[in-house]
Parts: sequence; structure tokens; C-alpha cells
Amino acid sequence: MKSSYNVEFNLDKYLNTVKDTPTIHYVGRVTSVNGLDIQSEGPRSVIGEICTIRVPSLKTTVLAEVVGLDGTTVKLSAFGNTRGIEVGCDVVASGKTLQVPVGKSLLGRVIDATGAPCDGKGSLVPETYYPADCEPPDPMTRRPIDKRITTGVRAIDTLLTVGKGQRLGIFAGSGVGKSTLLSMIARNTNADVNVIALIGERGREVLDFINRDLGEEGLKRSVVIVATSDQPSICRLRASYVATAVAEYFRDQGKDVMFMFDNVTRFAHAQREIGLAKGEPPAQKGYPPSVFDMIPKLLERAGTNDKGTITAFYNVLVDSDDMNEPITDKVRGTLDGHIVLNRKLAQAYHYPAIDVLQSISRLSRRVTGVQTKKACGYVRELMSAYENNELMITTGAYQKGNSPAIDKAIDMHDAVEEFLKQEEYDHCTMNDSLSKLAALSGIEIPEEEFDERAGDSNKTTAQMVHEIADVANNNAKAVSDGSGIEALNIQ
Ligand SMILES: Nc1ncnc2c1ncn2[C@@H]1O[C@H](COP(=O)(O)OP(=O)(O)O)[C@@H](O)[C@H]1O
Ligand SMILES: [Mg+2]
Repeated sequence: MKSSYNVEFNLDKYLNTVKDTPTIHYVGRVTSVNGLDIQSEGPRSVIGEICTIRVPSLKTTVLAEVVGLDGTTVKLSAFGNTRGIEVGCDVVASGKTLQVPVGKSLLGRVIDATGAPCDGKGSLVPETYYPADCEPPDPMTRRPIDKRITTGVRAIDTLLTVGKGQRLGIFAGSGVGKSTLLSMIARNTNADVNVIALIGERGREVLDFINRDLGEEGLKRSVVIVATSDQPSICRLRASYVATAVAEYFRDQGKDVMFMFDNVTRFAHAQREIGLAKGEPPAQKGYPPSVFDMIPKLLERAGTNDKGTITAFYNVLVDSDDMNEPITDKVRGTLDGHIVLNRKLAQAYHYPAIDVLQSISRLSRRVTGVQTKKACGYVRELMSAYENNELMITTGAYQKGNSPAIDKAIDMHDAVEEFLKQEEYDHCTMNDSLSKLAALSGIEIPEEEFDERAGDSNKTTAQMVHEIADVANNNAKAVSDGSGIEALNIQ
């Protein structure tokens, strides 16, 4: 009989560990401490390297990251409390940048900025380690986006349809419903895995999100990465990278990941603090140039690669509701779509407060069928006709009969509002959403367009040419008979 010892005992893991263990430790000495910013003479290190600062007086160690180098002076940012650190403390370079322990056991867990669990459910057994900071996938190997994802939010699934692997921003001032909208998506999406980054939120909001919004069922298929507003800026920055790395791991497993990031503005604030502390000049609105360099680098890591997809929603807290402020502008220009929430709608208890006409999903046409596109176009036309004439309509200045298009928009206004509103805990499947859209618009949506592959990219060239000709004919008819939306054959 063969001994199980010979068969099962594999030394590779241990040999690899020994191989990867550095035999020389570079050590420096602390020269100044200013809040969470520490300077030291040495050690030999690179930007992004993790160092351990020994605090003999408290018999503890503090993790810090190298954020700047100037001759032999090393600028570090501490991940935790700097209490007890004094001039002369040892700074030991690890030789490694931040690595994230990843594996399937992450599902259902809450982790912090270093990738360590913080939910009191015991330690994690990592399958492997992913670098927290890495390059986006090569654009040549990215799979094209050709399938639709379900968010479970009716207004998005119909009028702003999202493709699997698309990246969108949700833009609004504070208290308009960004986080609530994300929690609806987290509960209702048909993605395989949710990865949720809560960056710079208040502690209470984090607990509420995990216990109340996500709930036990939602958490089971989610990984939550948390860095609250009271934590050091390096934690908020690193948690953003760690969360992206976790999403990348699941994408590499061939999964369709729903990545939700709340919010990019806090990430930018964290980088602003670090950038200014290491001596960068402030540029736009006090943000140093590195902020505008790092935002696209982080956001580009989502999307598709050759194995799976990361569909991403990035919340952006719009300062003073100014849609042209620099962070909003930068994020909007980087992503494949933006969803704008409107404070007026929220005040009127129109939730989710999505301003459909101000929002755009750049890939929606690619992932929806022809009839669905027609129906969406019609509803948008109704909304636009009403909005452009709202003042006249509500003040009674508009005389019924002057314009058939406006008459129709007025008649349909309540039905459109009803269609767009959705209670927070109301779950709407894609079939529900499309059926309601068909009923609202009076345009029949055929069975095959309910499939997630209903988009143009799955059609033959001949089919597409035929459909384009069809739409062109309709448009020409609309222009020639001057009947606008009536020309779409809708009663
Ligand atoms: N779908 C909704 N239904 C009902 N109330 C909502 C909804 N979305 C947001 N709210 C209200 O708005 C408040 C702020 O929402 P929140 O998502 O925290 O905003 P933000 O993340 O933009 O600051 C919530 O506490 C809630 O009272
Ligand atoms: Mg919020």
C-alpha cells in the first residue's frame, strides 16, 4: 500500500514561500512625523512599497506606504494611528507593493484597505494574491460588449440599457439617492458577483448598507471593501485599488462582475491630501495634477478582458450640484455613460431621481433590439416634448390642439412618470421592464428582444442593413409629413 504521505504531501507551496522571502531587510530611520505623514532617512524602496514602522514604546508596528522619494528621504503615509512613533524608529521595507489576498472565500465577506477581513467572521484562506495597483487590460484583448446586464432598476434597464462590461457614473449632490440606487442594483442585478467599494462613507452608512440594504441574501454573493471617512487618506486610496483588484480576480475566473464604487469624489479627496502633503502643486480647484492622472487609471481597470466582464457603476458626489466641477468632468469623460440624479425629482419624491434626458448610456443601442430602441425613442420624445413646454403647460398658457406632439406628451405624462418611479424594495425583472415599456409606448417588443443578446452586435450585416433602412424610412416619413412622434405609428 502506498503511503498517503508520499502521494499527497506537496512541498511546492513551502518552497515557493521560501523562494519569495527576502533575505536582506532594508531599514531606515524616522526623521519626522506630521499627522499621518512620516519622513525617514532610507530604507531603499520604491513608490507604492509597503513598509513596517516599529514602535518599541507600544510594542506594535504600523504599516505605511511609500508615497514620495527625494534623495535618501522617503515620504510615507501611514495606514493607521501614528501614536507612539518617534524620531529614530525603524522603518523596514517589505520589498513588495500592496498585495490583495483573493479567493472564492471572499464572497460574503467585508474587508479593509489592506485586504484583511474586518467583519469578525474569522480569517480568510486566500487562493492567490493580486497586486492592488496594476495596469488595465490590453485594449486589443478586451472582448466586445454585446450582452445586456439587468440592474433591476426599470428606468435604467429600458431607457439607459447597460451592457455587460460597461462603465457608468452616477452623478448627484449629497442626499439625492446615489447610495440607495446602488443598493437597489446590488440586490437585483443578474451579475454573478457583486464587488462593492465603500470609500469615505460614514461608519453608520456602511453598517446600514451591509445589514439593511444588502441583507443576508445580497451579502452572500457580494464582497464589500470598506474605508470609512475617519480612516487615513491612504486607506481610502488603497481600498479603492483593493476593491478593483478583487473585481479583477472574479473577472479572471470568467464571471460577470457588478462593481459598485461609492464614491470617486472621496477617492479624489484622498489623493489630493496625499499629493499636497508630498509637495505637489495644487492645480484645478486645489486638486494636484496626480488626481486627474489617477482617476482614468483606476476606472480603466473595469470593463471586459478576455475572460469575463466587470460592469461598473461609479458614484460621483457632485460638489454644489455643479456638473462642470473638475472631478465630475473628468469622470464623465472617462466612462461609457452617465446617470444624472436630479434634486428636484428627489424633492418631489420621484425615486429613483434619475434625470433620464440628461443621462446617457453610450452602449445602450448596441445591446438592445430594434423595437426596444423604437419604444425607448418614443418615450424619450414624449418626455422631451413635455419638459421643453412644461412652463407653458403648467401655467395654462398652452392651448390644447396647437401641437399633436405636445398633446400626446400631456396625455401620457402621468403614465410615463408612473413607469419611471420605482419603490426602493420593488424588484423589476428585465421581462417586467420590457413588457411595461411595450405597454407604455404601444410598440410591440418581440420575444427575441427579451434575450440578453438582442443587440446589433449579434446580428448579421444583412439584418443590420435592413433595419437601418427601416429606421431611415420612418425618419424620412416623420420629416415629410411633419407629424413628429406621430410618424412612429404610435397611437
Ligand atoms: N428609492 C428611494 N425611495 C425612497 N427614498 C429614497 C430613495 N432613494 C433615496 N431616498 C431618500 O434619500 C435619502 C438619501 O439617499 P442616499 O442614497 O443616502 O443619497 P446619497 O448617497 O446621494 O447621499 C435616503 O435616506 C432616503 O430618505
Ligand atoms: Mg451616499
